[in-house]
Parts: sequence; C-alpha cells; structure tokens
Amino acid sequence: MEINVISGDIAKIEADAIILNFFEGMEQLDGDMATVDKALSGAISRFISQGEIKGKLNEVTVIHTLDNLPTARVVVVGLGKQPELSLDKVRGVVAETCRLLQKKNVKTIATLAQGAGIAGISLDGAAQAVTEGVLLGVYSFRKHITKEAEYGEIEKFTIVDVNKANLPLLEKGCNKGRILAKATNLCRDMVNEPGNYMTPTHMAETATNLAQTYGLEINILEKEQMKELGMGALLGVTQGSRQPPKFIVLRYNGSDSGEIDIALAGKGITFDSGGISIKPSQGMEEMKGDMAGGAAVMVAMSAIAQLKPKINVMAIIPCVENLPGGNSLKPGDILKAMDGKTIEIISTDAEGRLILADALGYAKKFGARSVIDVATLTGACRVALGDVCTGAFTNNQELVDKVIAAGVEAGEPVWQMPMHELYKEQNKSDVADIKNVGGRWGGAITAAQFLAEFVGDTPWVHLDIAATSLTDKERAYLVKGATGVPLRTLVNLVLSLAKK
Ligand code: BES
Ligand code: MN
Ligand code: ZN
Repeated sequence: MEINVISGDIAKIEADAIILNFFEGMEQLDGDMATVDKALSGAISRFISQGEIKGKLNEVTVIHTLDNLPTARVVVVGLGKQPELSLDKVRGVVAETCRLLQKKNVKTIATLAQGAGIAGISLDGAAQAVTEGVLLGVYSFRKHITKEAEYGEIEKFTIVDVNKANLPLLEKGCNKGRILAKATNLCRDMVNEPGNYMTPTHMAETATNLAQTYGLEINILEKEQMKELGMGALLGVTQGSRQPPKFIVLRYNGSDSGEIDIALAGKGITFDSGGISIKPSQGMEEMKGDMAGGAAVMVAMSAIAQLKPKINVMAIIPCVENLPGGNSLKPGDILKAMDGKTIEIISTDAEGRLILADALGYAKKFGARSVIDVATLTGACRVALGDVCTGAFTNNQELVDKVIAAGVEAGEPVWQMPMHELYKEQNKSDVADIKNVGGRWGGAITAAQFLAEFVGDTPWVHLDIAATSLTDKERAYLVKGATGVPLRTLVNLVLSLAKK
C-alpha cells in the first residue's frame, strides 16, 4: 500500500472512497462535509436528520455518489463525542473503516488528518494515528494459505489537507506512523509464523537481515560461546531440542557516550511444549507465539534505527525451543546461571525466566544503565489482567512511569503489578539459591521476583505480555492472531528517554 500526504480539496479527489468524519451531537455540517453534502443534494444532512448518521464511535455510513463527485463513495465515520476523542480512537476508526472498504474491493482511499485540532490532538499526531490505523487494521497473515484471497489489497491511501502549510507536519507524522506500523506488522508476521518455520536459526536470520537493512550492529552467540559465558540456565532449557539455540545481540548507537543507555531483552522461545513438565495438548499450538517478546524487541530496534534518537540501545534475544527428549532438563535438576546463582528446577515449563536470567546476566555484564524485558511469561498474568493490559513489574518507579506513559501514547495499556518483597519467600529453595516456580498464587509476581534476582540494582521493568501478544478476535486495529504488542510502546519509550 502506498500512503502519501497531499494538499488539496478532498471533495475534488478522484478515488474509490473518501472518508469524512462526524462527531456525536454535532448539529451543523462544516467545511468539507458541507461541500460534499451540497454535491450530493443534501444526502448527508438527510441521513443525519433521519438518524442514520449519529456520529457514534466506529459508526460507518457508505454513500455512493453516482457521479455527483469525483469519488465513487463518501464514507462518513463516527468519532464519538468530541471532547472524548483520542489518538487510539482515530487508529481504531480508520482501521475498522478500511477493513470494511477493502472487503468491498476499494483500492484507492483519501481522508483527512482525522482528529487534528480536537481534544489536544496535533497535526502530526493525527497523521501518524491515521497511518497506523490503516496499516495495522488491514494486516493479515496469509503466507501459508495457497488459495487466493477473496478481495485484493488497498493500493493507495492519501491524507489530504487544504492548507499547504500543514504538509511538513503531516508528512512527519505519516512517516513515523509508517515506520511503527510496518515494524509492528513484521513483528506480527514473526509471531504468527509456526514453530517449524520460526526456529531459533530463523530468528537469527531475521535479525541479520534487519541489521543489514537498517545498519544495526549484530552479534549472534552460538552454543559454544554460551558455554564460555556460563549461561547454564539457558543451556538447560535447550537440552531437549535438536534446534541449536541462538543468543542474538543487536546494538543501535545514536550517541557517542559509549554507554548502553538501555537494554531491551525479549523472550525468544520459538515453541514451548513445556518440556518434561509437558503442557496439555489443548491449545498448545498457541505456544508457537512464545517468542513474541523477542520479536517485539528485535523489530523495535529496526524502527529505532529509522527514527534515529540520540541514545544507545542494546537488544538481547535468547532464542531456544523447549521440548521434551532423552536429554531434556528435568524437575529437580539444578542449573547455574551466568551470574553464578544456582536454580532448582521445579517445572521445566517455567523456562522463560531461565533464559531471561541469562539475558539479564548478559545485560549486567555489559553495564546496561537500565533494562526492560518483554516476555510471554505467565498464564497467571492473563488470569490477573485479561488481554487488555500488559503487566508491568519493576524495581524503579520512575522508569515504570515512563513505560506506562509510552504505552498510553501507543494505545497499548500497561498496568503496574505489586512487587512486595514477601512474594520472594515463595521462590526459596532448600537445595539451591532459588527455585524456578513459586507456587500457584501470585504466579505472575513470583515470576517477576525471580527475574529481579538477576538484575541487581539496575533500573528495570519486566513486561508480561502472555495475554496481550495474541488476540482471538478483531478489535479496532487488532486482527486475529499476533498483535505486535508492545513494540510501539518500546519505541516510544526509547524516543522519550533520548529527549532527556
Ligand atoms: N509461555 C508460558 C506462558 C504463557 C501461557 C504464555 C499462556 C501465553 C499464554 C510459560 O512458559 C509457562 O509455561 N508458564 C507457566 C509457569 C508455571 C509452570 C509456573 C504457566 O504460566 O503456567
Ligand atoms: Mn512454559
Ligand atoms: Zn513459555
């Protein structure tokens, strides 16, 4: 899809559809709506007075112009109550509308920077949200479907503004939206890809391609190097698999301080069967998405490289397959992590925290000033928060506040969970320094407390995306399957840290 920004009069645009908007409770048609209404002999006003167009959020009315305008269709979308508008609502409305139009075989669409100037929304913010809305909303993963789709893709999407002076800001927003949405869709592709394709080796190939395309430094550690570094926790998880593990390190250097301002670590379990503590077979296919944290972190780096903030970022992605086998890790085994701590294995299904222990050990060894880890870590987090909010756990309130703010900006809600130190009791082992399961109750928190043991005093936030990385229904700009959460939050966070 080609997306561009032009100056002009939207009523004069030749397209398969133009999208205009209407707020709930609005009485008069102004500007473009009035012009278009006139060209359609008052059709829009009539629909409003008859109650077909109410302006309710996500209401879509398609009006065929029958040659009364250069566009074939005028689509009026409801944006809800004016003071309640947000960027996320704009993303959602554009997504739902474009999905509907795509099904009608519409190929060219023009619209305005919807929401600009309302409820504090800036021109560039609006252009960014509109761009994200269309690109994220019409995403689909058809790579393995050999049958042709029933409808083609939208080919051209144009954001129009009468005021030429607005173009630079609109271009800026559109460009940022394009970078973020394309990155999110690539992350979705990786997560949707099944375990027989998205192996640790394929994760490493993807990272290598991104590094080459966007100019990131890359270092992929093989098993031998992991042994040299003493990554016993990660090596324990990989034992049962024939897929060689890969420990991917990417670096973006936007400042010449030489410091790693922030490390982003992502869980890269390419398939989680549970290992010897095998999972029930019902729904196990979902565990092909257990590398969603790793994918988000990896692809966020490519967006960061394009947006060029003045900050240094390291991404750490341990990639491992968790399978049972004759050589598998067993309950009762004791592993030694990179930082020297010993871990008693209670369940081989609590593997994410094991590979992350070594990823965090690596971040510490290289002196990262702050760390964010992202992981599909616990079913317990899903029970606690459902699929709306990502769970956040921290040892540093200031950093988590920034993560939460970055999430609000992205429309990816993040909810902070408690880290009371009494939860640590549950992770105590009789035979090792710590055990990898702290019992059933508060499982998302005890998992986070386990990770906290490996970060020390470094400001750190852990994001549990077990529920938010996938969705089983269409919702605004999310479609069934991988969501790409929290890629845009991570990029926003890095941009905000760079401004300081
Ligand atoms: N990858 C799973 C967590 C998960 C569950 C992600 C559901 C997405 C959806 C993780 O490795 C896991 O198996 N966690 C166990 C931990 C338990 C053994 C302490 C869990 O949540 O059951
Ligand atoms: Mn598991
Ligand atoms: Zn897992």
